[in-house]
Amino acid sequence: MTTQPHDPQADSIEVDWSWTDSDEDWIPPEIDTSRPSAARMYDYAIGGKDNYEVDRRAVHEVGQILPDFQACAHANRGFLVRAVEALATLGVDQFIDLGSGIPTSPNVHEVAQKAQPSAKVVYVDNDPIVMTYNRALREPQPGVLSLDHDMRRPHAILDDPRLRAHLDLDRPVALLLVAVLHFVRREMAVKVVEQYARLLPAGSYIAISVVCSDGMQPALVERLEQVYEASATPFVARTGAQVEQLFDGKQLIEPGLTDVTRWRSDQGPLPIRILGGVARIG
Ligand SMILES: C[S@@+](CC[C@H](N)C(=O)[O-])C[C@H]1O[C@@H](n2cnc3c(N)ncnc32)[C@H](O)[C@@H]1O
Repeated sequence: MTTQPHDPQADSIEVDWSWTDSDEDWIPPEIDTSRPSAARMYDYAIGGKDNYEVDRRAVHEVGQILPDFQACAHANRGFLVRAVEALATLGVDQFIDLGSGIPTSPNVHEVAQKAQPSAKVVYVDNDPIVMTYNRALREPQPGVLSLDHDMRRPHAILDDPRLRAHLDLDRPVALLLVAVLHFVRREMAVKVVEQYARLLPAGSYIAISVVCSDGMQPALVERLEQVYEASATPFVARTGAQVEQLFDGKQLIEPGLTDVTRWRSDQGPLPIRILGGVARIG
């Protein structure tokens, strides 16, 4: 191997690092910025900065017909936080967050560990940008593991030796499926939830929130479908009856299946319905 002779001039060269101030300063090669991603669009909607022009354009496109998309995303996140608080208060100290999204504040482990300081959380997502940030920001925290999986594969996730080493699957677990099932085909989502319910230990809980098409203008459903069609995660609208089906055979805890703004909260309605519920299984 040959080495270059040292050039003392090189030490004095002024390097322009101003490009690193941009939020798009470094794009890991596995991240596809040619099309929007559901994770990055959601990050933008809740005020995050881990998103790209293509994602912001997609959110603005939705915003032309649904001006309060951001409010919907915030309300959904509020449901997730209240559900985790409620479950941790019930004594649950193991969480699997499927479709975790990009780290935000507060994260699931932060909420859970307030009530259960030794709570353990497994974050699962299949978007490379989420994995990059989960590994960098969430995984170094105590009690946290981050896994790259497709949530439609319950066996692969629950049999993953890393998850088995982190959680005790002989004890109850809370499975979070928050704002992720509207990216899964209807019949498949029912089967996937059923499979998780069968595989998890008795006394476990499943928390779900999902967009409901009841009362939604057909043009809006179509627009949402078109925008997400361009992403890696097409959008699937569900009627209220189809959302209820996801909870078949499970005991909903108070206040049952309702608008996320009404779940242990009394905020006003959203321009679209997002239903949320938490159920006990086994
Ligand atoms: C709208 S975000 C919701 C984030 C978080 N659950 C919340 O409610 O605040 C949806 C997330 O689900 C992830 N996702 C979509 N389909 C998935 C799949 N099949 N497997 C794993 N993650 C998925 C996306 O990458 C994205 O991070």
